[in-house]
Amino acid sequence: MREVSNDAGALVDAFRAGTGRQPAGVWTAPGRVNLIGEHTDYNDGYVLPFALAQRVLIAAAPRHDHGSWSVTSLNNRSTKIFRAADLRPGMTGWQAYVAGIVWALEEAGHRIGGADLVLTSDVPEGAGLSSSAALQCAVLATLADLNDLDIAALDRAKLARRSENDFVGAPTGLMDQAASTLCTAGHALFFDCRTEAAEQVRFDTASADLEVLVLDTKTPHALVDSDYAARRASCEQAAHLLGVPALRDVADLDAALDQLPDPVIRRRVRHVVTENARVLEAVDVLRAGRIADLAPLLDSSHESMRDDFEITVPQVDLAVETARASGALGARMTGGGFGGCIIALVVAGETDRIGHEMTRRFAAAGYGRPMHFTAVPSAGAQRLK
Ligand code: GLA
Repeated sequence: MREVSNDAGALVDAFRAGTGRQPAGVWTAPGRVNLIGEHTDYNDGYVLPFALAQRVLIAAAPRHDHGSWSVTSLNNRSTKIFRAADLRPGMTGWQAYVAGIVWALEEAGHRIGGADLVLTSDVPEGAGLSSSAALQCAVLATLADLNDLDIAALDRAKLARRSENDFVGAPTGLMDQAASTLCTAGHALFFDCRTEAAEQVRFDTASADLEVLVLDTKTPHALVDSDYAARRASCEQAAHLLGVPALRDVADLDAALDQLPDPVIRRRVRHVVTENARVLEAVDVLRAGRIADLAPLLDSSHESMRDDFEITVPQVDLAVETARASGALGARMTGGGFGGCIIALVVAGETDRIGHEMTRRFAAAGYGRPMHFTAVPSAGAQRLK
C-alpha cells in the first residue's frame, strides 16, 4: 500500500482541487485489531476488538445530478463513477465497498442523493486489520450525514455488514463493523454478538507500562474467502449436529465432543467454545486492571487457532514464536487468519526491538519483509469537520 498522509487538511485540498468545490464535511472510520475472540462472532459468541489510529478519511459533498456517485481514492489514484442502475450485488472492484453502502441504505428504505467522495486510507490492506469495514463504515457515516439520516451506531454497523455480506459477497460476522463504529479511545469493545450488548472496557496499556505490537506478516493468500466460508460452514454443521442454535450454546464441551464422530469437527468446536471462555476471562482481567494477565490467554488463543481451528500459516506461527522468544509477554494471530497480522503484548519501549528481531528472523527464513507498529486504542467512526 502506498503511504498516504492521514491528514484531513490535505484531503480537503485534494477535494477542492479535484471538484472545484468545498466539501460539506470530513468523516472517518478506523481499522481494528481483535484482542481476543476469533471466529466467535458468527457463532453468536463474544469478541474484544479495539479500533486503531489507522483509518479511512472521506471528504464529500452532494452532487447535483441526483442518481450518481463519484469516488476518488487517493491511495490508488483512481476515480470511479457509479449510478443508481449499477447498484446490483456482485459489482467488482474497490468501488463495490462504496456502492454497497448506498445499496444497503436504499434497501433499508432510505433515499440516498448523489455525492462526490474523495478518500484516503492508512489501514494496511489485506492484512486482517479490517480495511474494508473501515471504508464501509466511513462511507456510511458520510452518506448518513449528507442525507440527514438519524441511524443509531449499532444499526450503522449492521448496515455495513449487510453491504459486506450481500453486496460484496463476504460471509463475515459483525465484529469488524461493530468495532469500526462503536469503539472509543482508550477502550476495547466487549461485544456480545447474540444480544448485541456492547461494553467499553478500559484498556490503558500505558498504566501497566505495556504496549500492543502489531506485526503484519504480509503473507499473500488467495483463498482467504473460501477458507473462511469453510470454517463458518463447519461451525454451522456442528451446531446442527449438536442440536443447538449456535456453538455459543454449548454448555458442556466434553459432552459435546463425545457426540461428534468427526475429529476435524471436534477440533473446530473446541476452538470456538474455549475461545468464547477466553474472551470472558480477558474481560475480567481488563476490568480488574490486570493487563499483564492477558498474556497467557493470548498464547492459548493462538495455540487453539493453530491446532484446533487450523487457520494460521507458517509466517504467522514464526512471528508469534519470535515475539515470545524475544520477550513479548504473550502473542496471537489477530483477524480472520490464513496470513495477516499478529498482536503481541510487550513491555513499553520494546516494540521496535522485537519488531526488528522479527524482520531478521523472517529474512533468515526466506520470507518477505514484515511491517510493525504500536497499536493505540482509538475512537470509532465520526465526523471530523
Ligand atoms: C474476519 C471477519 C469477522 C470475524 C473475524 C474472525 O475479520 O470479518 O467477522 O469473523 O474474521 O474472528
